[in-house]
Amino acid sequence: MIDHLSNLRQEALTSLDAVSTPIELENWRVKYLGRKGPLTEILRGLGQASPEERKEVGAAANQLKQDLESSREEKESTLQDRDLHDLADRDAIDVTLPGRPAPLGHLHPITQIIQEIVEAFSAMGFQTVEGPEVEWDRYNFEALNIPQDHPAREQHDTFWIDEKDKNGSPSMLLRTHTSPMQVRFMENHKPPIRVVVPGKVYRYEATDATHEWHFHQVEGLAIDEGISFSHLKGTLYEFAKRIFGIKRKIRFRCDYFPFVEPGAEMAIDDGKGGWLEIMGAGMVHPKVLEGVGVDPKRYTGFAFGMGAERIANLKYGIEDIRSYYSNDTRFLRQF
Ligand code: DAH
Repeated sequence: MIDHLSNLRQEALTSLDAVSTPIELENWRVKYLGRKGPLTEILRGLGQASPEERKEVGAAANQLKQDLESSREEKESTLQDRDLHDLADRDAIDVTLPGRPAPLGHLHPITQIIQEIVEAFSAMGFQTVEGPEVEWDRYNFEALNIPQDHPAREQHDTFWIDEKDKNGSPSMLLRTHTSPMQVRFMENHKPPIRVVVPGKVYRYEATDATHEWHFHQVEGLAIDEGISFSHLKGTLYEFAKRIFGIKRKIRFRCDYFPFVEPGAEMAIDDGKGGWLEIMGAGMVHPKVLEGVGVDPKRYTGFAFGMGAERIANLKYGIEDIRSYYSNDTRFLRQF
């Protein structure tokens, strides 16, 4: 039986040598390794053999099967290589050409800029948190020192989900800014606090080159003992340096936001002698601190909020905010 196996090996390998096409190779496989081939027959017949014979012949037959299978694979790849070379020889294809790359996606430019902004602050020890996009009036306005009938509400054209009833009970809206997370975070965390809050915000506004009904903000909040306006300036200066480079100048001016006192706007030079406002900021209003149980005599802090699209516009020289969301891949591919 062992002799028979070695004859079979001889015969199979000699006939494999003569194989020169894939079809011949397949016929060879069926003949020697197929279900009706001699090897399968031998292995099947082992049931009737004596235990010693079964062991010896079984091992040898399995070895032969493996050897033939790997010779077959070798032959297969030789045939494939040869096919390619044949094609190349006949100039049918240029095998030296690089392959066609599979198209790869990448992060949206606004996602990229948000990551950059968040990284700039995280390098300064700020933690990143996110909050709900569907918000209560209480967080979006009330707790930020914007009561009913406050004129600041007019600047926040709001998508209401349910209108406040006449008793003034809670009503739901799509957040108009990321500032509500200041309140939510302070409700659950004691100072010292240093957080940034990236996220989507919504405004019920007509869309044009500088307005979208949906855009992104990054909010910041730092609360501790002894925090002063100069900490705010230093932090935002460092941020501007990281995003826009060392040469850009920044300017602070007074501005009004109900939840900070004093309030400021920060602008960055446009390189042409002008200034572009990039965010609102200020020292957190004592009323806001009191509202969440933080003692304003002991703790002070600063807050800021910026539009991510604005920062991206400045950084990349984009003029129409609608470009980000029109899904034109010619635009998006550039980032
Ligand atoms: N939430 C303001 C807005 O959307 C921006 C802002 C201004 C955020 C001043 C702040 C701040 O944290 O201190 O218009």
